[in-house]
Amino acid sequence: MKIPYVDLQAQWRAEKKELLPRISNILSKGQYVIGQEIDKFENNITKISKTKYAVALNSGTDALTLGLKLIGVKKGDEVITPPNSFISSTTSIAHVGAKPVFADVLKDQNIDPRQIEKKITKKTKAIMPVHLTGRVCEMNPIQKISKKYNIPIIEDAAQSIGSRYFNKQSGSFGEVGCFSAHPLKNLNACGDAGFLVTNNFEIYKKARILRNHGLENRNKVNHFGFISRMDIIQAAILNFRLKKLNSTVKKRRANADFYFKNLDRKFYFLNDEKEYQFNTYHTFVVQTPKRDKLIEFLKKNNIGTAIHYPIPIHLQPASKYLGFKKGAFPETEKQSKKIITIPIHQNLSMSNLKKIVHLMNKFAKNNS
Ligand SMILES: Cc1ncc(COP(=O)(O)O)c(C=O)c1O
Repeated sequence: MKIPYVDLQAQWRAEKKELLPRISNILSKGQYVIGQEIDKFENNITKISKTKYAVALNSGTDALTLGLKLIGVKKGDEVITPPNSFISSTTSIAHVGAKPVFADVLKDQNIDPRQIEKKITKKTKAIMPVHLTGRVCEMNPIQKISKKYNIPIIEDAAQSIGSRYFNKQSGSFGEVGCFSAHPLKNLNACGDAGFLVTNNFEIYKKARILRNHGLENRNKVNHFGFISRMDIIQAAILNFRLKKLNSTVKKRRANADFYFKNLDRKFYFLNDEKEYQFNTYHTFVVQTPKRDKLIEFLKKNNIGTAIHYPIPIHLQPASKYLGFKKGAFPETEKQSKKIITIPIHQNLSMSNLKKIVHLMNKFAKNNS
């Protein structure tokens, strides 16, 4: 039996009976753009993120792009971000005309606050930490740097809904928190979706206008906007799935715990959860120098895996204009050769978990 890295079909099978009537109900009302379901979603999100406002958008990438615009980042500015993220944290910086300035990461794969401080110049207009894998970055020192230099933080919280750091919610540390509800995320739509959160009323108000062509009212536009509204069907699906978010996170955390306790820790490097963290395990990443061989071995045994991410952003062809060479960010580059993401999703059974651990420990024994 195959154990897929993600299992969206299993999710659909489990939810279909309850979800289809909700979608049918939404469609029957004939209100297809913005409206009640979106308001409900935004209200639900403010409760989870413990922020004053939320704005539903069509992707995490648009949340980042609008967020950068709304904190005033523009052509010629610099934004500090890690080079080991999904491409779109950097894409959003490039698309507002700013220069991505990379800062290397810690062993835990998140941005290193000391490296951030080293990269600050007069042109730095934002710091964009990425809470990779569902683990919030070291936000205390990052907030200190933000205050010291008066540079706003925009969080790429795409992978970290519900995660906490010293009991504070992911997305609530900076001026803007940006989330994705892409199908592969812990809170997932059946298509593209995302949202931003903020405590700043001006940002909230402008985000609502910018997502809707820049329309201040039916006919007036002060600034050209975008078409970044969340789809109403996705909002209905997300409102339904929000009710299950706690149990999804609980199951993912239990799966992670099983791995922490049972994987061969002499062979595999794992990032343990610190006492002040509450990680939601969007992904579970293991590190081994034998990564490529392990992937092949697991594939032969019908276990799906992934690499997040095999090519660091500074070495992507699209980043060539920034002029980086191999070796520019040693920790990121070292990790990119060793990281492997193993299945962690909420539909894994105990026998799935045992099989994965058994095979990985067998591999470790034969390759030590
Ligand atoms: C770290 C990170 N940033 C940004 C994004 C972009 O989100 P989206 O795919 O919803 O545009 C994603 C997810 O895809 C992500 O994982």
